[in-house]
Amino acid sequence: MHAEVVEYLRCPVCASSLSATGTALRCDAGHSFDVARQGYVNLLTGQVPAGAETPEMISARAAFLGAGHYDFIAAAVADAAGAYSSGLVVDAGAGTGHYLAALLRRRPEGFGLAIDVAKAAARVAARSHPRADAAVADVWRGLPLADGCAEVILNIFAPRNGAEFARVLRPGGRLLVVTPRPDHLGELVATLGLLGVDPDKQRRVDVALGGRLRLDRSDEYVRKLRLTRSEVAQLVAMGPSSWHVDRPELSRRLADLGEPVIVTASIQLSVFHIAPRLGG
Ligand SMILES: C[S@@+](CC[C@H](N)C(=O)[O-])C[C@H]1O[C@@H](n2cnc3c(N)ncnc32)[C@H](O)[C@@H]1O
Ligand SMILES: [Zn+2]
Repeated sequence: MHAEVVEYLRCPVCASSLSATGTALRCDAGHSFDVARQGYVNLLTGQVPAGAETPEMISARAAFLGAGHYDFIAAAVADAAGAYSSGLVVDAGAGTGHYLAALLRRRPEGFGLAIDVAKAAARVAARSHPRADAAVADVWRGLPLADGCAEVILNIFAPRNGAEFARVLRPGGRLLVVTPRPDHLGELVATLGLLGVDPDKQRRVDVALGGRLRLDRSDEYVRKLRLTRSEVAQLVAMGPSSWHVDRPELSRRLADLGEPVIVTASIQLSVFHIAPRLGG
């Protein structure tokens, strides 16, 4: 792992700093965390929560994102990140690290940390870019990072923890949140019986973040995707519906689709900054 990232990592047990010793990171109190052969550190204490993606979901996501269908999201995120060129980018709920890598490609001196609760994700994200590292951690239990260390935090289609984002974001830094809009993948919700997006989701995101995070702006991006049947299958396999669908029924419905399948991708990108502490 990169020294530029390790310096900001904190022990998930006692919050002291960590240093690299052989194949582990260790704090002064002796808590030790293995760095896997694939280059990620496991900082998860306790059980893996529900919602961790499976290796099958991660490989479907890698294939779908690799084909470029969501490049418009990566470009919007990289534009919204602003003009800094160095510092730490944290991707909370990073999945394959696709968006983190896209941002680092535009930031020649930046370093990145992908955080995900799924080992399968951390394994892929650790190799997403030469200046990216990855850690397994549960964002709901807190980020294993120093106060005010992140220049940019990405949170894309992933669980969020407003209090922790506010603690970790540097004054002047930005939090970028991508959420699906109610019509996201609407055609597939109807024809394949997928889970729809809660129409109240955006309001819930703003409320959940709250506190010291201030909304600078929020923009919608809508694209018509032209997909093959197998790309539609990847899209289903990488999303929350993959936990719920009846697979034989899904295969029948997929087989009935004519190509190309036109699908609406519709997302909201919200940019937040951190308000100064009162009296500080
Ligand atoms: C829908 S995927 C999005 C991944 C990536 N941001 C992208 O858009 O390609 C959500 C990710 O959040 C991770 N995740 C779920 N619960 C989590 C938690 N409590 N802490 C950290 N990551 C979590 C999942 O393992 C998964 O990789
Ligand atoms: Zn410790």
